[in-house]
Amino acid sequence: MKEEQSLVNYERGGFRTDLSKRILEPEEIITGEEGEKYANRKDDRTLTYSMVARDIVERLGMNERSRVMEVCCGSGQLAHFLREMTGAYIVATDGGKELVDAATSKYGGEGIEFRQLDVHGATDGDFDFVICKDSFHHFTDPVQSIKDMFRLLKDGGKIYIFDLVRSCDPEQIDYRQKVMQIDAEAKRFLQSVNASLTPEEMKSVAIGSAVIDVEVIYPMQYSEDNIEEHKEIIERDSTKEYLLDKLFAVYILTKKI
Ligand SMILES: C[S@@+](CC[C@H](N)C(=O)[O-])C[C@H]1O[C@@H](n2cnc3c(N)ncnc32)[C@H](O)[C@@H]1O
Repeated sequence: MKEEQSLVNYERGGFRTDLSKRILEPEEIITGEEGEKYANRKDDRTLTYSMVARDIVERLGMNERSRVMEVCCGSGQLAHFLREMTGAYIVATDGGKELVDAATSKYGGEGIEFRQLDVHGATDGDFDFVICKDSFHHFTDPVQSIKDMFRLLKDGGKIYIFDLVRSCDPEQIDYRQKVMQIDAEAKRFLQSVNASLTPEEMKSVAIGSAVIDVEVIYPMQYSEDNIEEHKEIIERDSTKEYLLDKLFAVYILTKKI
């Protein structure tokens, strides 16, 4: 698989992948004008925030008593759905001020607050769950990043990471980039895939950060609730991103007691 993969590469917007190794993107907190644009962008993703939120709620058993920290929350959609679905207490954070401001004005309210925080500067917390969606691939030091997130958890708490998978079937990468009409977006997508970890790499990272348990799951194995709740989206979806069953993975890491 590995050898075959290194031969299959894609080029878009001047970036050529080399999927045989991790090529880092700059670890970027999105700020300034880019932050404002990002907060207002029209998202063409069909693997929607509410689908991922449902996956999180079911897998972690999140409920109204849960205390949840989201890191790298962008403009707050996922946190909003988690709050709506469970009534859990949510603190959602991002390093980008403009994103936090946009999230606060759209979704801030009772039981859900947005704060500016660089995840690497996080202090000790007592959260039940830490969520990190579509962002782990930015981190230049994955072992340290897991430790940074662990500090936010109480003992026995869990981290839920949803991210791209570099070792997925290259055809799924090709399909996704071809669907993207704007070159700059496709380039960003390819860079992100190339910066992402393989499940094997993620397991070594977990061992290096003294995790006792790491579970690897491909997220699009819908539960009945997810299918039922999202039937309409699934039927009218033209991108069919939800069929890309190996392009993303979920990693659930438990903090040692
Ligand atoms: C690709 S976006 C994903 C945003 C959101 N999770 C989503 O799924 O839409 C990555 C986010 O990570 C944030 N970020 C990157 N490095 C960070 C860091 N060290 N601390 C906090 N946020 C960071 C960026 O500001 C950006 O909002």
